[in-house]
Amino acid sequence: MPKDLSNYRRVYQRGELDENSVPENPIELFRDWFVEAEKEEDCIEVNAMSLSTNGLDGFPRIRVVLLKKWTWEGFIFYTNYNSEKGKAIAQNNKVSLAFFWPKLERQIKIKGLAEKLPENLSDGYFEQRPRGSQIGAWASPQSEVIPHKKFLQQGYQEFEQKFKGQEIPRPKHWGGYIVKPVEIEFWQGRPNRLHDRIRYRLLDDYSWKIERLGS
Ligand SMILES: Cc1cc2nc3c(=O)[nH]c(=O)nc-3n(C[C@H](O)[C@H](O)[C@H](O)COP(=O)(O)O)c2cc1C
Repeated sequence: MPKDLSNYRRVYQRGELDENSVPENPIELFRDWFVEAEKEEDCIEVNAMSLSTNGLDGFPRIRVVLLKKWTWEGFIFYTNYNSEKGKAIAQNNKVSLAFFWPKLERQIKIKGLAEKLPENLSDGYFEQRPRGSQIGAWASPQSEVIPHKKFLQQGYQEFEQKFKGQEIPRPKHWGGYIVKPVEIEFWQGRPNRLHDRIRYRLLDDYSWKIERLGS
């Protein structure tokens, strides 16, 4: 049944963004916005971000992953290296990330280069995951066709048995990526669709060019 959504409309008026008062480094602004989002969005999946890759078939592919850490160098998430996204990144490591925090009427878009995290950092994160998630990383061939639902449960039981009474090692096909940004855009919704858009572009290792974009 078709549905017309043309009346779905909000007036954005929560905040403003001024290029003359933003910090020189976008990671600082990211931190400020993230902290506000944690409060305002009641922490519900506030670290969920859309990750787009250039698919092997030429189609862009997008999916949600969880941001697990950010540093001055970039944004870290974990996944299966053999997944669709893992294969896409191996071929072309240019990716984009997007956050949307509706209550704050904010979006952040990040363009960057994805690199595998050093093994010791992936090991460190894997060790602190709940045992169930550790077993899941072994049991599920992410993005591959599987014969039926029970296949995952059977795989889970198999690895649960295999690692009984032992620490579970990180599978080599599972680990982190860091997305090193080359461009970060902060979007603050404004009335009449005259939104504030401030874009940072990396000029060299340390300095960013700050520009305002039309909405
Ligand atoms: C809220 C949310 C968080 C997710 N977090 C992750 C994550 O951190 N890592 C991951 O590999 N998949 C995560 N997923 C699943 C992915 O969206 C995706 O289905 C999976 O990674 C396979 O993607 P691919 O086939 O494009 O590689 C999450 C999904 C949702 C809805």
